[in-house]
Amino acid sequence: MIAPTGKTKRRRVIAGNWKMYKTQADTRAFFSAFLPLVDGVTDCDIVVAPPFTDIPAAVEAAKGTAVAISGQNVYWEKEGAFTGEISAGMLVEAGCRYTLIGHSERRQFFGDTDDTVLKKTKAALAAGLTPIVCVGEKLADYQAGNTEHICQTQFLGSSNSLTPEEFSRILLAYEPVWAIGTGHTATPEIASAVHKFLRSCAAARFSESLAANLRILYGGSVKPDNIKGLMAQEELDGVLVGGASLDPKSFASIVKDWPR
Ligand code: 13P
Repeated sequence: MIAPTGKTKRRRVIAGNWKMYKTQADTRAFFSAFLPLVDGVTDCDIVVAPPFTDIPAAVEAAKGTAVAISGQNVYWEKEGAFTGEISAGMLVEAGCRYTLIGHSERRQFFGDTDDTVLKKTKAALAAGLTPIVCVGEKLADYQAGNTEHICQTQFLGSSNSLTPEEFSRILLAYEPVWAIGTGHTATPEIASAVHKFLRSCAAARFSESLAANLRILYGGSVKPDNIKGLMAQEELDGVLVGGASLDPKSFASIVKDWPR
């Protein structure tokens, strides 16, 4: 619901995407170092997305803590002859509560489209997962001033036919491709402006109140030294962290060191 001031307090989310890094032994070592560092943090959601093979080790290590585990991708069918794919039910059974969907690396290298992202999102929701749906423009689009057009197309292509109830359960991540793994973070102001724009698209497509409750994360070279500036933006409801989530100390400092 929109508060009378027009401002809605959204619970922040700090999520780490490990991509194709870490073995099971690395996963156990990460959690033994990370969990004591974030013990007592209760005012934000903490999510880690390890590679599929590390999920059982991560779930076991994070059991009884506030840290939730996420898949990095999901397939939309429940089962079948789909070599190499993992269903939403399989992620749930393994102990995941979230899954990333449509990460730019999936869109660029593995054929994810707005259409498959929508199917994956619906399947994840049906299985009870919280999808973290990713959108973001490439450098050439950014330079050509096409950021809003690309993000709107990916966002609505990925969510247009969700029901309002389904839409209320997704998280959105804005990850400009030019900022991923490059060290070139979008400035807090650039990120905030895109989030604001995406929220306005959500309001136009769904409703003001669903838009006001939508949590939008920023991703792209988020580090301990830029987290304060990013999270100071009211429009940023959290971050999706790649490289800096691999190290327990740096990820813990991202979880903790921002203005509450
Ligand atoms: P980096 O933080 O390494 O730039 O990666 C961002 C990302 O792609 C998270 O999903």
